Amino acid sequence: MIDQPLPLMTSEPGSFARSTIVERKPQIIRQVIADNGYPPDIVAALDAFRHEIAAGPIRPLTEVAPDTEFWNEQAAAHRGRTWLELPWYFAETYFYRRLLEAVRYLQPGPWHDQDPFAPQKREQESEAVAFLAQHWTELTAADPETRFEALLHSSLWGNRADLSNLTVRELARGGLDAPSERHNILIDHSQWITARLSAGVSRLDLVTDNVGRELLFDLALAEFVLDQGWATSVVFHLKDRPFFVSDAMPRDAEHFLALLANEDLGRRLEAHRLAGRLVFTEHPFWSRCLMFRDMPEDLAADLSHSGLVLLKGDVNYRRLLDDAHWPYTARLEEIAAYFPASFAILRTLKGEIMVGLSPGQAETIAAADPGWLINGKRGIIQLVSKP
Ligand code: F6P
Ligand code: MG
Repeated sequence: MIDQPLPLMTSEPGSFARSTIVERKPQIIRQVIADNGYPPDIVAALDAFRHEIAAGPIRPLTEVAPDTEFWNEQAAAHRGRTWLELPWYFAETYFYRRLLEAVRYLQPGPWHDQDPFAPQKREQESEAVAFLAQHWTELTAADPETRFEALLHSSLWGNRADLSNLTVRELARGGLDAPSERHNILIDHSQWITARLSAGVSRLDLVTDNVGRELLFDLALAEFVLDQGWATSVVFHLKDRPFFVSDAMPRDAEHFLALLANEDLGRRLEAHRLAGRLVFTEHPFWSRCLMFRDMPEDLAADLSHSGLVLLKGDVNYRRLLDDAHWPYTARLEEIAAYFPASFAILRTLKGEIMVGLSPGQAETIAAADPGWLINGKRGIIQLVSKP
């Protein structure tokens, strides 16, 4: 086993981590101001936050909230540093927590529980419903194994739809599985996953990521697995608060199901939900700054009962790998041996981190496409089985 490498830092010159802070985060704040009719004091708080990101040292949370102590303890390790001197994953998660403070999300009053990203999410959902209507028959035609693989691949490409990342937003127009895309799946264990699930599991868990097409395909996948009797139940693990702009919370999933109420898929999903076979759950860990190896015991114990955990998206991949500079040839199964269950990660490449490649493979891809790690063009469907 290789020594634990250093985390990706926002201080690394020319890195994507740095540009997410310098360019993307201020843009996200501007969009939130434009999308919500906030009063002057909230706009002022958001503007002050934008200026802090550009120049100041990070400041602690000042609001009274159940998680203030947790976050301030975490932030204390970085006291006196600017936003460009932090571990990248901490910087991004703390950004979302501070944004919620600025918009009074956790405070009593008119802005309590008001999702600052709701307008952007609703747009993605309407688009996904229209997409479903257009393409559903294509997806329901094939035999079960082929259909499952197509859904798995579509669920992977749905991960391109990520509102926190403007580079890949356009690619998200794809979404549906296509043979012309297969060479872009750098690691593809679809057949092993199909074999594992078709043999039957009692519970499939899905650690979800984004709303819109991604959640649409995640739900379609869940419906298929339940319908085939491959799993007795499917548990969706959602975020307990707005996070990385487009990440789904239980209320987003419920809202989306309501939009699908008149579709065949929507009716089937609702029936599974009413029967307790499809479950939407949340846990504060999913929106915190800790890595998966620091997963709280209650959650690890719960996941250990799963037949398979599907982890969706780039951020979950980063958290599996400590958001650290592992060599491209490092083995995921060794690094993430701590994970409490068999898991598969479905992730498009959007952060500068990647393992599991053969010697020379990364260099060959980089020579052909210098933006390969962040442009969302490629993906992985990688299974790590527990003995
Ligand atoms: O802000 C950029 C980023 O952290 C990228 O690493 C990633 O592309 C995105 O946010 C979140 O991606 P996902 O929705 O796939 O977790
Ligand atoms: Mg996301």
